[in-house]
Amino acid sequence: MNITKICCIGAGYVGGPTMAIIAQKCPDIKVTVVDLNEERIAQWNNPDVTKIPIYEPGLSEVVSEARGRNLFFSTDVDGAIDEAQMIFISVNTPTKTYGSGKGMAADLKYIELCARQIARVAKDDKIVVEKSTLPVRTAEAIKSILDNTGNGVQFQILSNPEFLAEGTAVEDLLKPDRVLIGGDTTPAGEAAIDALVNIYSKWVDRNNILTTNVWSSELSKLTANAFLAQRVSSINAISELCEKTGADVNEVARAIGMDSRIGSKFLKSSVGFGGSCFQKDILNLVYIAKTFGLREVADYWEQVIIMNDHQKRRFANKIVSTLYNTVADKKICFLGWAFKKDTNDTRESAAIYVASDLVSEQANIAVYDPKVESEQVISDLEYIGVSEKGRDRVKSYGSAYEACDSAHAIAVLTEWDEFKEYDWTLIYKNMQKPAFVFDGRNLLDGKKLTEIGFIYKSIGS
Ligand code: UDX
Ligand code: ADP
Repeated sequence: MNITKICCIGAGYVGGPTMAIIAQKCPDIKVTVVDLNEERIAQWNNPDVTKIPIYEPGLSEVVSEARGRNLFFSTDVDGAIDEAQMIFISVNTPTKTYGSGKGMAADLKYIELCARQIARVAKDDKIVVEKSTLPVRTAEAIKSILDNTGNGVQFQILSNPEFLAEGTAVEDLLKPDRVLIGGDTTPAGEAAIDALVNIYSKWVDRNNILTTNVWSSELSKLTANAFLAQRVSSINAISELCEKTGADVNEVARAIGMDSRIGSKFLKSSVGFGGSCFQKDILNLVYIAKTFGLREVADYWEQVIIMNDHQKRRFANKIVSTLYNTVADKKICFLGWAFKKDTNDTRESAAIYVASDLVSEQANIAVYDPKVESEQVISDLEYIGVSEKGRDRVKSYGSAYEACDSAHAIAVLTEWDEFKEYDWTLIYKNMQKPAFVFDGRNLLDGKKLTEIGFIYKSIGS
């Protein structure tokens, strides 16, 4: 089948960048991205392309090339579904906050709503592609809803998990290690797979496009994220041991990373991993394992999360104990709030949990992040249940110099490059003494800071 019209439901961190690249690389295909959130769509359509709602290096250039040509953003979900031959579902699937599987299972209500909407609107055959991270066997649920509530048209369901990492989304989409497409092994399923392969092969080598059955594809996505998160938790576990023994975690990471069987990536010790995927996907894996009665499997993966929670708490505790066991009414500056550099996404960022712990010790937190707005900081704290009184202790500033002014300590929570370029002598001058730096990302030059006069504490040394 020759696809000429695509629709993507969900204009978020996954749907937006992915569709922008498909539109850029396939100028003959009309790509319409729809979302219920009117404000978000208005932001995507902002004539000033630097104001699009998602910050990703290189994204605004891609959007400005394709938008209005063959890339469109709209709130007309029904219209876009109706005209498309292929529909991507890129809506959010947060961890459930209620009912059975609370705190563990993925909340599929947005997915189900999409499936019902597609079934209601579709008047001709469609290929439906699940792009969101979903628990294994979701495709089956989508298929059941489509087949039982549809107008008698044929649906093919494909799983096409996204492996892009935020902050490098454009690069990851342009040069993916692999593209994974899962589908039915029937002739109609294989035709649907081919249609999607043809789209990606416009810019990805066919050898890097893997096709599998649906379940393998869905499970591969969860497994990839679980393995990556496991590496971070593994090195973070070693960081605590390093602090007790005098070993340096950066040296250990370098030494083990040069073993080609281990490899050097994802060995950077930190205050803990964040982001919308790692925790959610592992919890999903744990939940699925539990559902099948596989207790050991569930416990094995759950430990990755336990270690991560421990690392965040340990960092907050270290700040309190180093500041003479009290941070009450002290000003602590947070450099960074996003879950990693080069993104404005704050979902599950370690900063939120560290701030919550410090606020419960009655510290005042001064936040500076180059891309995160103050409203976001407050809503993140509210989301995890920090009281209004607690939230009042957290203020955002427009520059790091202001945020650090008269602070007792600085905590580095995100590895933004600009932090390395600051005039640290000036920052030191304006702080309370002794002035502390807790480097949760092992980002700064500890030797230089110590020479200036700071007491510098990194993770894992
Ligand atoms: C991840 C996967 O990498 C991506 O393939 C998937 O599609 C979505 O989930 P993302 O969440 O955007 O991407 O970021 P990633 O770069 O994987 O980082 C996740 C977290 O781990 C961040 O908080 C990061 O700071 C942390 N991390 C990563 C470390 O602490 N140390 C490392 O060595 C690497
Ligand atoms: P992700 O990181 O998975 O892309 P986001 O939260 O950034 O997650 O984006 C998901 C988007 O999906 C949100 O903008 C949300 O408004 C949108 N969305 C959720 N449900 C629906 C729906 N039924 N129809 C259209 N858009 C939806």
